[in-house]
Amino acid sequence: MASPMSALLFLALVSGLLVYRWANHRRRSGGLPYPPGPKGDPIIGNLRQLPDGKKQPLHITYKEWSKKYGDVFSIESFGNRVVVLNSAHATNELLEKRGNIYSDRNPGVIRRLSTNHHFPGMDYDEEFRTYRKVVNAAFNPSAVKDYGIIQEEETYETLEHLLDSPEKWFLHMRRSAGSVILRVTYDHKVRALDDHLVEINEAAIPNNLRAVTPTAFVVNFVPWLQYMPDWFPGTAYRPFVKEVLDGHMRIRDTPWVELKERMAKGAIKPCYASRLLEMKGQITGSDDEEYVIKASAGVMYGAAVDTTLGTMASFILAMLLYPECQKKLQAELDSVVGTNRLPTFADEDHLPYLRYCVLETLRWNPVAPLGLSHAASQDDVYEGMFIPKGSIMVANQWAILHDENMYPDPMKFWPERWDGRFPQARDARLYAFGFNRRMCPGRHLAYRSVLIMAANIVSSFTLVPDEKSPLPANVSLGTGQTFKCNFVVRSPERAALIRSTAASLDASD
Ligand code: HEM
Repeated sequence: MASPMSALLFLALVSGLLVYRWANHRRRSGGLPYPPGPKGDPIIGNLRQLPDGKKQPLHITYKEWSKKYGDVFSIESFGNRVVVLNSAHATNELLEKRGNIYSDRNPGVIRRLSTNHHFPGMDYDEEFRTYRKVVNAAFNPSAVKDYGIIQEEETYETLEHLLDSPEKWFLHMRRSAGSVILRVTYDHKVRALDDHLVEINEAAIPNNLRAVTPTAFVVNFVPWLQYMPDWFPGTAYRPFVKEVLDGHMRIRDTPWVELKERMAKGAIKPCYASRLLEMKGQITGSDDEEYVIKASAGVMYGAAVDTTLGTMASFILAMLLYPECQKKLQAELDSVVGTNRLPTFADEDHLPYLRYCVLETLRWNPVAPLGLSHAASQDDVYEGMFIPKGSIMVANQWAILHDENMYPDPMKFWPERWDGRFPQARDARLYAFGFNRRMCPGRHLAYRSVLIMAANIVSSFTLVPDEKSPLPANVSLGTGQTFKCNFVVRSPERAALIRSTAASLDASD
């Protein structure tokens, strides 16, 4: 049993901590309150109220809370504050207009220890800016057009796989998304999912996600634990960090060694890595540009595959739930492309309904509904509320993309909303791909991957629900999130067209 003395000591410690926090807040905030939120307990703050996302997805809970506390609210635990932004106005004012102070990543110890040259985890510092310069040089809107041929070829190959084993549609699309990004990055073609580069990348993804989850480790809440010896409780994270860093090394080094060998033999087609290397240090003007290219290339598979795949699965779900949209899209494709060839990027400008369907997919079911959180690099004041340095900034992208003022009848998949009838509707890509200096650098490539795959699937097949398996209401990001449905080829002539196109690809391989 605790002695009266230790109980007194404990009380004194807790009171001291509370007084210190109160005084510190007063000094830095000038007496302004934090953004409002659910009432928490002393020290542990909102730990007991934190939703675990099992009963309902977090973005829905946050949208509900925003009705009660306002579109900018906050929760706090052990002194770590999370500010949740639920409106376009708030993300615009903070993440966009004040992007210079809202572009760090979460201040968790594990995130920092496991970032080491893995730029999505870096704070917004000089090193990060160098990485983004390199990546932007290769993935800007005009540069990604050069990769259109890869996206078309991978799509046509996927059509043939869908003819052969439609029940494995999700795996075929996973292979395709992996092959697009590995060909774009290293000119590495993926023939099957046991490809060695796919395997090392897939192995790294769960660890990377865990490393950036602020609540995954006690040391993120109690940072001084990082200075304690290995036997001390709360320090068992160390082997995990080593595993993350080893994984980064593998996804960086293995493809790079292969790329350099093939480049030396002249056996490589132009790709992200080879094109950037040809610029010979001109992008950053620094001696270690090659390392930046190599390390930036290493993150691409992990960032590209689940997101693109999830968006494609959302599109397929929308076509199944809204067959009238599927019919309308088929009619547009038939009138523009005809039946004697498959859609290409050259058709894009003549297919407005296709573009509306892709935009609507990104809006209706954004695969990263809460995006990737940012953090405040200094104290700030917004509309009379104090946002302390180190606050984790979560943008509820789903809430913004379902704001009825911009998108009337928001739960409905309604591609026509993009035909200009709602001038207040801002382009879904402005939210679905994140914000400002951290906005997804692969967005132009991703949009085109989804567009060309969507066009070809609907042109070649009719998507029909599986009678025995109910469809989910939405698709969330993550491995294996799939559902059953039928891909019914639209005619024997279309099947023959798919076969002959795929055969011509094999011949040119
Ligand atoms: C439809 C597919 C995709 C979606 C919905 C998506 C969405 C996002 C989002 C929401 C972020 C976080 C932005 C922020 O912090 O504000 C992000 C970051 C990122 N994305 Fe994408 N993405 C997609 C595809 C891709 C592709 C194809 C690539 C690579 C070619 C890619 C590369 C990245 C990278 C490297 C980051 C980290 C950027 C940084 O930390 O500065 N993404 N993406």
